[in-house]
Amino acid sequence: MYAPIGIFDSGYGGLTVFRSIYERLPQYDYLYLGDNARAPYGTRSFQTVYEYTLQCVEWMFRKGCPLVILACNTASARALRTIQQQDLERIAPGKRVLGIIRPTAEVIGKYSESGVVGVLATKGTIQSQSYNVEIAHQFPDVSVYSEACPLWVPLVEAGEHESAGADYFVRQHVRNLLAHHSGIDTVLLACTHYPLLEAKIKAQLPEQVRLISQGPIVAASLADYLARHSEIERQLSQGRPPVFYTTDSPEAFDGPASRFMGAPVQSLHADLTP
Ligand code: DGL
Repeated sequence: MYAPIGIFDSGYGGLTVFRSIYERLPQYDYLYLGDNARAPYGTRSFQTVYEYTLQCVEWMFRKGCPLVILACNTASARALRTIQQQDLERIAPGKRVLGIIRPTAEVIGKYSESGVVGVLATKGTIQSQSYNVEIAHQFPDVSVYSEACPLWVPLVEAGEHESAGADYFVRQHVRNLLAHHSGIDTVLLACTHYPLLEAKIKAQLPEQVRLISQGPIVAASLADYLARHSEIERQLSQGRPPVFYTTDSPEAFDGPASRFMGAPVQSLHADLTP
């Protein structure tokens, strides 16, 4: 029986998380879905992100995934709780959907010595205040300063993340973030697209500031979750290569996806209609 772990993102960004998960837990089958046709999510309303995410999750359930990871902060911030609390019982009792904000918030405070953390994310994630709330819960002494970077995801989705034009927007937002507080010693890339801009972001940060990507954090958290939830773990199938789907054109997806994965990707088109 085919029962892969589903990895979902609005587009390419989730591949930065999937890559770490696959390195850490290569034994499982995986199904990746990028909703490239409707990306970016970060500038869309709460209701739209929720509806798009639910549609994608339902599609992944129909494909056989017992567990779906929202490898997208915007979807985790705007859709996860409603799906978990309102929809799951009705559409797929026994299946699970996990996000990536809580596992990140659980560890981010440990990276900071000054107790001042900067968060770079989409407008949707920043407006949701999810990181402020979750980090305050885990690390009450840590202060969080945020900066929304609305143009970064479109740059990545358009394949412009290595262009000279991207430098301008990266510099602008990193400067704005650092201007909030001189004590920021840890910067979290709280959007899964942003690791693709990592070199440019690093170049704008003082050397002593740590830059944290979520991939390894989410991979460790998933390994821990599966160790604690044998009722889910034993449903998962193993031994097949990962399968990639995009809601847009597979031809357009495969080139960038192969670069981001560091291995050839041949995707299929996902038609979300039931
Ligand atoms: N990768 C998504 C995230 O982590 C970006 C969302 C988007 O704007 O499409 O938030």
